[in-house]
Amino acid sequence: MPSSLKAVAFDAYGTLFDVYSVGALAEELFAGRGAALAAMWRDKQIQYSQLRTLCDRYEDFWQVTADALDYAADALGLRMDSEARERLLQSYWHLRAFPENVAALQQLRARGLRLAILSNGSPAMLDAAVSAAGMQGLLDKVLSADAVRRFKTAPEVYELGPEAFGLQASEILFVSSNGWDICGATWFGFTTFWVNRAGNPPERLGVVPAGQGHSLDDVVEFIDARTGRGPA
Ligand code: LAC
Repeated sequence: MPSSLKAVAFDAYGTLFDVYSVGALAEELFAGRGAALAAMWRDKQIQYSQLRTLCDRYEDFWQVTADALDYAADALGLRMDSEARERLLQSYWHLRAFPENVAALQQLRARGLRLAILSNGSPAMLDAAVSAAGMQGLLDKVLSADAVRRFKTAPEVYELGPEAFGLQASEILFVSSNGWDICGATWFGFTTFWVNRAGNPPERLGVVPAGQGHSLDDVVEFIDARTGRGPA
């Protein structure tokens, strides 16, 4: 079966880059509370990005990330001095990539697909993460929500994908580990693949992605099943 998919756009944090890897540093700084801090930091970061978009109060993702950390530390009653704060924030500039990712991106490229990141991250954050993960040269585009000063799930952000590639949204496979992002992207019109790394239940929003799995290797398999072939 020939596939109409011509490009793949990836969410960055949690999909290509492991945000919970900051938990190790958080645990070193706040023994027994690291996992809670990392999880609340992430949840608040997403909540602030959505609220700022809903109410048209844009600040870039770096600012949102710092504000979310301050909130989370405060809410958990942690005494975070400026050195600890700086170390936690700096960890965002060299997040670990998930182990299968570089090889999976290479395999997708070998199948003739064009690849992009489509993320809330600021351009500087994304450039740093791409370099730290050794993904330079594997991505055709690094698209930041900062270009439209709104965050996902605003359609203007998703529109950066079709615009950059000159393709219909349905010709792009949008890949994210975030259930809410998969819903927004599916509603926008992308073909979507949910990398459900955490084994979360599906969101109750009436959305079914075209595919789902647990790692980027499953994305390669999905593409091969759609095209009925392996690398070109
Ligand atoms: C991103 C966040 C939402 O990369 O994971 O856009």
